[in-house]
Amino acid sequence: MKYPKEHLDEIKTRLKVSTVVSKSVSLKKRGKEFVGLSPFKTEKTPSFTVNDEKEFYHCFATSEHGNIFDFVMKTQNLKFGEAVKSLANLAGMRPYTFSKQDEEREKNWQEYCSIYNQYVQFYHDEILKNESLTIARDYLKKRNLSKNEVKNFKIGFVERNSNFYEKLKDEFSEKVLVESGLFYLDEKKNKYVERFRDRIIFPINNISGQPIGLGGRTIQENSYSAKYINSPETPFFKKGSNLYNLDLARRLSNKIDHVYLVEGYMDVVGLSKNGIENVVANLGTSLTDRQILILNQFFEDIIICFDGDESGYKAALRAAENSIKELQPEKQISFLFLPDGEDPDSYANKNGKANFIDFTKQAKISIHQFIFNHYKQQTDNNPSSMAIFEKKLRAIAATIKDDFIKKYVLEFFLEKISSLTPHSNVGKKQFYTKKIKSLQSTQRHFNESKLLSGVEA
Ligand code: GTP
Ligand code: MN
Repeated sequence: MKYPKEHLDEIKTRLKVSTVVSKSVSLKKRGKEFVGLSPFKTEKTPSFTVNDEKEFYHCFATSEHGNIFDFVMKTQNLKFGEAVKSLANLAGMRPYTFSKQDEEREKNWQEYCSIYNQYVQFYHDEILKNESLTIARDYLKKRNLSKNEVKNFKIGFVERNSNFYEKLKDEFSEKVLVESGLFYLDEKKNKYVERFRDRIIFPINNISGQPIGLGGRTIQENSYSAKYINSPETPFFKKGSNLYNLDLARRLSNKIDHVYLVEGYMDVVGLSKNGIENVVANLGTSLTDRQILILNQFFEDIIICFDGDESGYKAALRAAENSIKELQPEKQISFLFLPDGEDPDSYANKNGKANFIDFTKQAKISIHQFIFNHYKQQTDNNPSSMAIFEKKLRAIAATIKDDFIKKYVLEFFLEKISSLTPHSNVGKKQFYTKKIKSLQSTQRHFNESKLLSGVEA
């Protein structure tokens, strides 16, 4: 039995070699590589190296060499199939079990990919080559998009009267075509029509670069239809588990330790056009835990940069409260607030790359600082309001899964609160006496010494 290549590739794209190796070997970064003590031999000086870019490990002491599957097989003494299962699990994927259902799913997946590939390619070629599509071409020009961006992101345009269903229907069944989400039945005319007609389309790729969904923007201003629509959820497209541009951005993660998370397709394209390519967008829904975990697998710092308006701020707050749960040691989540009325696309187009990077350095704040600032602003200087404030921050800190991070975020909040309430250190005292045992013994010692000094005096 052979695992489908896509399954193995997806595991490999989701897991860096260093992520897998560091579960059992402690690694230090050295230049582009990581080094550590060889797991194949007892040694005092490290001769074991890991290269994420080239996707292999190499041991100079024993000449052991291979990819993540080899590593798990050799260090845990597993067969290939067991290694695949274990790594699929680590990558957050469902196991491939060779059942009838899996085979059926695999066949559907192949067809799904083929439909999306043909569709995306066709409408991409149209916008590049069909000179009669002047309205769409002018629209892209107006949005500052050159041929370069159109090609990089494989942007396309679905003309109003176009019907790709007719082209695909000989090759694929009605069921499979409907399941792709690209077409729906117009009941009046009793025929399938294009969901994305009259829209610029942005292919949404999975982590390996395979298109699995679309975002579509209308080119009509004052249109009655929604400005943006996405493909509906399909068996192979789950919005909460994907991010726009993840496939391109993650390739930079060997060189750059942070990624920008923005709201819109055009923000990704706009930043990228200005030379900031480590950028992804969530797909018009609230940020999910899953998306944070995926980004953390590749990047140390996730910089959330939503639009500089009220809805952007609200979305940022929701994202902060939801994602602080997932905060892990050595990972950061930060926020960057743009000037009023700007979004990342407009800001980068006006000010350019260097300015955007400078602005990030000056203005980005950590997730815990943002949450503190937000609730502080809502708090008045009276006991009731202060109590609500402290309770809220404690409740937020309590949601954090990692115990160490939980402890230090709580400490950060309470420290800040106690600097606002210099006369009572209630919050701080409670925290230390509850959590830290050694303090009780210090206290005992302190009391005893008081007694002693009493005797002396
Ligand atoms: P432009 O006006 O093209 O510059 O869009 P933008 O990138 O500034 O997008 P905007 O801030 O309006 O929206 C951000 C994201 O929210 C979009 O990329 C979509 O994913 C989503 N979105 C915006 N408008 C709609 C809508 O009408 N319906 C749905 N479902 N999603 C939307
Ligand atoms: Mn915009």
